[in-house]
Amino acid sequence: MSLVFLPLFLLLAAASAGATAAADATVADLYRPCAACHGADAGGNVALQAPRLNHLRPVYILAQLDKFQRGLRGGEGATEAAQQMVAGVALLPPRERWPDLALYISELAGGPSAATLTGGDPVLGGDYFNQFCGACHGPAAGGNVALSAPTLAGADDWYLAAQLHAFRDGRRGQHREDRTGRQMRSMAAVLPGEQAILDVIAFIRSQPAE
Ligand code: HEC
Ligand code: HEC
Repeated sequence: MSLVFLPLFLLLAAASAGATAAADATVADLYRPCAACHGADAGGNVALQAPRLNHLRPVYILAQLDKFQRGLRGGEGATEAAQQMVAGVALLPPRERWPDLALYISELAGGPSAATLTGGDPVLGGDYFNQFCGACHGPAAGGNVALSAPTLAGADDWYLAAQLHAFRDGRRGQHREDRTGRQMRSMAAVLPGEQAILDVIAFIRSQPAE
């Protein structure tokens, strides 16, 4: 798969989209270049490793866009997928339009993606989750704004796995100034191995998305 060539292609394709990022562009125009990877309904695209976005709260979307733009996420040592999103950042409108864009994304209609992982035990996963995760992400994985902890219910299973691996391996949350990323990085390390990751994801996926 020629993932490597995708950002360049998109950057060229979006050179014209950049021009429409002026103040009079509609918010649907602002989302169009993002849709190339995340899907028209923000339901995600596993082939491009671009996750579902519309289950997330606008405040978390804004925080992540800020991190990507400042290099706190997707910087040195980050995964190939995170580098793909660095190309996405180049397609962002001026900052004053970000809140509109984030709200628009959170209201798009994409649903949860089909399962790609098997072998996880949601009951065991629930035990791990209550013990290690629920205090920040909420008992049913709905997130907690005050703690900057995102909604996990409704996320793609493959994306949850990729992020837990990235945090654990120091490829996300590795930047000194990424305070919330560093918090999560230390938490990913408490899951005792691959089976525990599958279990906890099976639990998260069993929780209804809001
Ligand atoms: C070239 C493909 C591509 C484009 C274009 C793109 N993204 Fe992404 N985006 C990704 C990938 C891949 C990830 C996952 C990064 C990772 O695994 O860390 C991502 C992650 C994100 C995240 C973080 C989600 C989370 O749960 O933390 C947000 C928010 C996001 N993108 C918003 C946008 C917006 C808004 C645009 C349009 C301005 C956009 N993206 C354009 C590929 C893209
Ligand atoms: C101390 C609070 C805290 C605990 C405990 C915690 N997390 Fe997190 N988690 C966060 C924060 C904050 C973020 C957002 C990081 C960022 O801003 O990049 C996050 C992000 C994530 C993400 C990335 C979601 C996305 O959309 O990109 C996943 C997956 C995740 N956590 C899973 C877990 C699991 C599983 C556990 C239990 C083993 C856990 N977390 C425990 C605070 C916590």
